[in-house]
This record gives sequence, C-alpha cells and structure tokens, in this order.
Amino acid sequence: MMRVPLEATYPARVTRQQREALNRHRSGVVYMTGLSGAGKSTLAAMVEQHLHAQGMRTYVLDGDELRQGLTRDLGFSDADRIENVRRVVEVARLMVDAGLIVITALISPFAADRQAARARFAASEFMEVFVDAPLAVCEERDPKGLYKRARRGELKGFTGIDSRYEPPSFADLRVDSARLTPHEACTAMLAGMAEFGFF
Ligand code: ADX
Repeated sequence: MMRVPLEATYPARVTRQQREALNRHRSGVVYMTGLSGAGKSTLAAMVEQHLHAQGMRTYVLDGDELRQGLTRDLGFSDADRIENVRRVVEVARLMVDAGLIVITALISPFAADRQAARARFAASEFMEVFVDAPLAVCEERDPKGLYKRARRGELKGFTGIDSRYEPPSFADLRVDSARLTPHEACTAMLAGMAEFGFF
C-alpha cells in the first residue's frame, strides 16, 4: 500500500485573516490596568455589550472570575501576580488568534509585565487602557469591602495599600474613571478603540 506523507493528508489551518474576514472585524486585545475598584470590570462589561450588539465577537477576561478557575492556584505575591498576568495574556493571545476582540480586566500592577504582555502581540492588536481612579476614590467605593479589610490588616499585600501599583506611562488611552460616569467612560473607550483602529 502506498504511504501518503502526513503533511499531505491535512488541509492548511484556517488563518487569522480568514477568521477576521468571516467576522468582518479585526481582532485584538484591549488590555485594561488599574486599581481594584477603579471600574475595570464594569467598563469591560459595558464595552463588550456595545460591541456584541454591533455583531462583533468578543470576550472579557476578568481577573476576579479567572481566579476561580484558570488561576485558582495563585495568590497575590509578586510572583503569583506575574504568573497570573502571564497566563491570562496567553489565553488572550489564543482568543485573538481565534478572531475575537478580547478585553482583559486585571489589576496588572507591574509595568514590566504589561511590557511583556505587549510584546506577545503585534503593535496594531494591543491597546493598553489605564482605568485611572485615585486610591482614595477606589477606597471610598470599596465595592467588595476589601480596602477596609486591608486597612484593618486582615488582608496582606493589597494593591495600593501594601503592594505596589505602577501607573502606566505608555498607555494608549487613559480613562478618568473617577470623574466620568460609567456611560461616559464607555463612550471614551469606544472612541479610543476606533481611533486605535479596531473599527
Ligand atoms: S493581579 O494583580 O494579579 O492583576 P487580579 O486582577 O487578578 O490581580 O485580581 C484582583 C482582584 O482580586 C481584586 O479586584 C480583588 O477583588 C481581589 N483581591 C484579593 N486579594 C487582593 C490583593 N491582595 N490585592 C489585590 N486584589 C486582591
């Protein structure tokens, strides 16, 4: 019996370009960073709803949710945060390759990791968004009561209290989530995405 070479038995894989053509939009990642309570998850959900309603294929990768599964073995030491960010970035990379617009909502507190994240994508497909609200505002909001617990010393290594947050100096967009309403912040994000070239 004649042997068929293995490579000849499989068709070529569907390319990123083919997926984008089918979806009729570009894929890429909107990489949010900001303190806990700055509004990343809210904003990610609002932006995603808007894009979805426009017929775009999207997915939100939210730190709080992923820590229930994909990254549930990780805590909040510097090393664990680095690994947390790295894993989520790799998942985002797969999803971008699959043709989606991915919105990540992680604190991602260290500049070096955000730099490393950027390096995993083409320049045109990685948009860094600084969801910027001062610590005092986030602490006042304290939606999960975590700042209170951190101040009482019940929670060690909390970002902004006793674990550092390095504000980005190269963000593609800064959203002033302390002054803007959620609706205004969402509008600013969508305008920023259009300017960046997503659509
Ligand atoms: S990151 O630093 O590794 O990027 P990530 O975004 O996944 O953090 O998770 C942050 C969320 O975990 C916060 O919004 C908060 O709800 C919760 N959390 C629990 N402990 C901490 C902590 N020590 N520091 C920051 N966030 C914490």
